[in-house]
Amino acid sequence: MTRAISLHDVSKTYSSKGTRVVDRLSLDIAPGEFLVLLGPSGCGKSTVLRMIAGLEEITEGQLLLDGEYANDLPPAGRDMAMVFQNFALYPNMTSRDNIGFPLRIESPGVDPGGRVDATARMLGIEDLLDRFPGQLSGGERQRVAMGRAIARHPSAFLMDEPLSNLDAKLRNHLRAEISQLTRELGVTTVYVTHDQSEAMSLGDRVAVLRSGVLQQVGTPRAVYALPRNVFVAAFIGTPRINLLRGLVRAPLGGAMTISLGKQFLRLPEPLSLDHQMLRVQQGREVIVGLRSEAVRIAKPAAARPGEVPITGLVEHLEFQGHEVLVHFNTGSQPAVVPDLEAPRPAGRPDRRRRRDSTVLDRLRERAVALRAGSVGVLERPIGTTAAPELAPATEPRLPGDLVVRTTPDIQLRHGMQVPLLVDLAHLFVFDQDGDRICPAPDHVPDLEE
Ligand SMILES: Nc1ncnc2c1ncn2[C@@H]1O[C@H](COP(=O)(O)OP(=O)(O)OP(=O)(O)O)[C@@H](O)[C@H]1O
Ligand SMILES: [Mg+2]
Repeated sequence: MTRAISLHDVSKTYSSKGTRVVDRLSLDIAPGEFLVLLGPSGCGKSTVLRMIAGLEEITEGQLLLDGEYANDLPPAGRDMAMVFQNFALYPNMTSRDNIGFPLRIESPGVDPGGRVDATARMLGIEDLLDRFPGQLSGGERQRVAMGRAIARHPSAFLMDEPLSNLDAKLRNHLRAEISQLTRELGVTTVYVTHDQSEAMSLGDRVAVLRSGVLQQVGTPRAVYALPRNVFVAAFIGTPRINLLRGLVRAPLGGAMTISLGKQFLRLPEPLSLDHQMLRVQQGREVIVGLRSEAVRIAKPAAARPGEVPITGLVEHLEFQGHEVLVHFNTGSQPAVVPDLEAPRPAGRPDRRRRRDSTVLDRLRERAVALRAGSVGVLERPIGTTAAPELAPATEPRLPGDLVVRTTPDIQLRHGMQVPLLVDLAHLFVFDQDGDRICPAPDHVPDLEE
């Protein structure tokens, strides 16, 4: 049997006066679905998982299991198996006994041997059954922990960063195994991670959380291609999307442009529907998002329809073997997205609730905060159109504002001025609140699922 799991406006507060660490979360997980909860550290992922497992009380809202109200159901009655990051095996039991332990508790007097052996075969750990956890490597221990979850034949798996203690190679290997196993078993799985590439490779759907608030839920393709806001855009995809501060100019009778510091993108006429929507942003600051595939190194003469030229100064080259990531300085100001990766320091005010403060306000605050640290930023007063000035020379600047992928055969050197083409079909524009305005929010995705 496999379970449908529904959360309706579920919130969690740890103390009576505390803020909501999970804030009105609604999510419907279909039977057999593999759903990944993705978000930065401290955003509430484990709390959500623990509420589903029954290990944490739900402060407000409803949990439904197969349509039945389940807020008060004890964990043992939920028929779910949890796998944690830290393996959590009994050190004084062999792998065989660790895997068989929950079965013995469930059905005392029944020999779990058959199921343990079948599970061990499935995971390829037959040779490890007589060893103790102290005699196993990290990867082997995690396999045994998985075995303990699988052997019970639960109706759902809840996995909390089960691979994050393992090295990269083993993580990739076990990731593929988990994917294959859960699909074969057809069991609903909720998988928590802060690693976007893990989320993208595993999930049927990915739910992105930020400070306890669901930002978007969709297939990996959909959240990548049509991120609802600047946070999702920045959290998903490597290399990270380039986010630049832009200003929309739409003079009557003139071409519409988005200026990026000293340069600008001229939107081709006739304007596409999506670009027409930008007209209302005339004179406003926006955040321009360009994934690395939206920019290529080529001369203006090579432009295809929809591509517009800019130039960039090579600041840094990152060799990756099969490709090179080139960090360009285009003279524009990078937009910094708050809350993206760092855990929130204790006592920091909850900025989400300040309806009157925009993302750009927060960027400005962040820029001021960064001045105190080691990362310098480009700063100019909002609403002025003067070219951005460099922050004082004592502050090292970020290495470039635009990262572009290219093949290793292109000969580039630090300090070269290089022609670039921006493909406007891949242009993202976000408003001052960080919400996507281009492609238009009601854009119908043309995605082959
Ligand atoms: N028992 C608790 N009492 C008070 N606050 C808690 C408790 N458990 C978690 N929190 C807070 O709730 C928030 C969400 O925590 P949670 O463990 O769900 O985050 P997470 O997304 O799993 O983070 P990580 O990726 O670091 O594991 C954090 O701010 C955390 O400090
Ligand atoms: Mg956690």
